[in-house]
Amino acid sequence: MTLLRGRNVRISGTGVYIPERVMRNVDFTNFLDTSDEWISERTGIRERHFAADGEKCSDLAYMAAKNALENSGMSNKDIDMVIVASNTPDSIFPPMACKVQSRLGAVDAGAFDVQAGCTGSLAAMQTAISGIASGIWDNVLVIGCERFRDILDWKDRKTCILFGDAAGACLLSVSEDGAGGFTAAKLFSDGTKADYIMAVPSDDSFQQLSMKGNDVFKYVNRNLPKFISDFCKESRVDVEQVNLWVLHQANARIIDDIVRRLKISADRVPTNLERYGNTSAASLLVTLDEAVKNNKIKSGDKVCFAAFGAGMTFGALMYEA
Ligand code: COA
Repeated sequence: MTLLRGRNVRISGTGVYIPERVMRNVDFTNFLDTSDEWISERTGIRERHFAADGEKCSDLAYMAAKNALENSGMSNKDIDMVIVASNTPDSIFPPMACKVQSRLGAVDAGAFDVQAGCTGSLAAMQTAISGIASGIWDNVLVIGCERFRDILDWKDRKTCILFGDAAGACLLSVSEDGAGGFTAAKLFSDGTKADYIMAVPSDDSFQQLSMKGNDVFKYVNRNLPKFISDFCKESRVDVEQVNLWVLHQANARIIDDIVRRLKISADRVPTNLERYGNTSAASLLVTLDEAVKNNKIKSGDKVCFAAFGAGMTFGALMYEA
């Protein structure tokens, strides 16, 4: 189930877009009973970015996609499919992927959106990998993007301090020489916990984020480390063999717990949540882009991706560079 078959699929480009406006922890103290100490100690987050007034989620997606395409050296005509993962689309329809596809001039590409909480970018990548491995597509642009500012409850100090806006992207392509590529993939869902993280209608908004943060925290700490170690076993990769861990950036204490329980060396786990907060479907792709640009991934390295999110959903991918 977990091991991939078919054509090998490689990462051929990555990109990012972080909106300019920064909000520091201390800025929340202007309207909430909170403190920089509480937020940084409980979450590891120091600041996050938010989109400008006129900047739509699809605008963030387009900027990250453009950056990934430029970094890949490919042309817009090479793209066969655009897949956007997001929990905060401009509107329920049309798909944001169609807006990105037309702005990029990717005239030969299809386009659709997926939604799987913060696991969304992994679900999108696994869809892209399946399509390339089976031969229906050669190059797929995957984008994760969020504009949380619209759905946050700014009166709820337990949730609004956690999230930020961003977009990350990667171009996935068939490996021409057959070398390297993704070797294993897994998605898991436990819908009995669907009420842990929800978008619900409120007086202020059509959809507002509502979360049982402490339940999420306990559930993830109880189940995610085992999910990841089982995934490694099924992938036939020892945890110690993994050179780089691209993990969902939600809370530093959750990442520390994974590191401790799996006995991972912390220098193999890059983090950026201190700068961006939880950017949900964008988080993994932003982290991947930073790792690539900081030369943290060398040829032959094993990279393990893992994420969790609303649903509850878990996901993982194993990659050989
Ligand atoms: N500032 C100050 N105090 C705060 C606060 C804030 N921003 N938010 C909550 N508190 C208070 C609570 O009111 C509570 O006070 P009480 O004991 O007087 O009732 C106390 O801090 C502890 O709250 P609790 O919710 O139990 O804290 P926690 O240690 O679980 O941390 C989270 C809260 C949200 C940071 C943590 O549960 C978490 O990160 N959960 C995972 C959420 C997540 O990752 N979601 C995304 C999934 S993709």
